[in-house]
Amino acid sequence: MVTGALGQVGTELTPRLRERYGMENVLATDIREPVEGAHLGLFELLDVTDLHRVREVIKEYDIDYIFHLAAILSAAGEMRPQLAWRVNIEGLRNILEASREFEVERVFFPSSIASFGPETPREMAPQDTIMRPKTMYGITKLAGELLCDYYYYKYGVDVRGVRYPGIISSEALPGGGTTDYAVEMFHYAVKEGHYVCFVSRETVLPMIYMPDAIRAAIELMEVDISRLKHHNAFNVSGMSFSAGELEEEIRRHIPHFTVEYRPDFRQGIAETWPRSIDDSAAREEWGWRPLYNLSFMVEDMIMKLKKKYEKGLLS
Ligand code: NAD
Ligand code: SER
Repeated sequence: MVTGALGQVGTELTPRLRERYGMENVLATDIREPVEGAHLGLFELLDVTDLHRVREVIKEYDIDYIFHLAAILSAAGEMRPQLAWRVNIEGLRNILEASREFEVERVFFPSSIASFGPETPREMAPQDTIMRPKTMYGITKLAGELLCDYYYYKYGVDVRGVRYPGIISSEALPGGGTTDYAVEMFHYAVKEGHYVCFVSRETVLPMIYMPDAIRAAIELMEVDISRLKHHNAFNVSGMSFSAGELEEEIRRHIPHFTVEYRPDFRQGIAETWPRSIDDSAAREEWGWRPLYNLSFMVEDMIMKLKKKYEKGLLS
């Protein structure tokens, strides 16, 4: 079962899981209906804050693995902090509680670089380090990591997770995060040749390309638990670059592309996050290795988005 399956990650993770485990073996769920034609396959409406409904769906489908993606992201969470707390904390607690009750075999929980804070070393943020997040989203992700640990040690729920950097992808638009500029820049480059960026040119954040992000989730969920010392909240790195470096790399493919930098409140959020993260624990414990660097990712994104805009799949 995938929660929040219609979001940026779920839109690509769900079909990948169906390819790997069979169409009839993957249930997509979300609080909203899919657009017609999308996500052909099993789908249930599921609000993760509704424990009764979470229990009902897990029981009805005899769920064994859960990829719990439903969340309110950083920028959206600053607009609606109470909602972020409810969805990200109560939603996770419901998933863990139902997983304990119905003996779900494994749960995947994606944390984030937002769980770090300004006191964390900004370069190569370590796996185990000081974490004092300043956004409601970051607070819920850090508390979520701890809640996952609690269910693992107290009840033996096999819950595993990563700390994703900003995820760049071509299939679904991101859903209200601070790293959204890195995705939006591609869309505006391809369709308009100009982008107004909401963080400064010098802002550097860790990022990962979606194919690597999805592979990380699947590889971690499939690895033998005896290999893991951390089991949860693994730093996974892809690449780090400034907004200006991304602009220049895109311009290698679209020479007339221009960007104006007009930082807003999301600049303040970005400044509380590390510029790069150390993922050596993931590499050592389960063999994690990203395959995409900046130039490979940019080439692939532009190729995919050009095709989508040409075919009228995006406007
Ligand atoms: P998204 O915002 O694109 O999608 C979240 C989905 O959750 C949406 O489809 C939304 O409809 C759904 N949702 C919201 N409230 C819900 C509720 N109460 N019940 C059920 N579904 C609900 O997010 P995403 O980018 O796909 O992120 C997936 C997960 O990965 C999240 O947990 C996020 O924190 C984490 N993550 C994402 C990134 C990133 O850059 N995208 C980075 C780090 C971590
Ligand atoms: N990409 C996410 C955000 O910006 C980080 O978890 O909110």
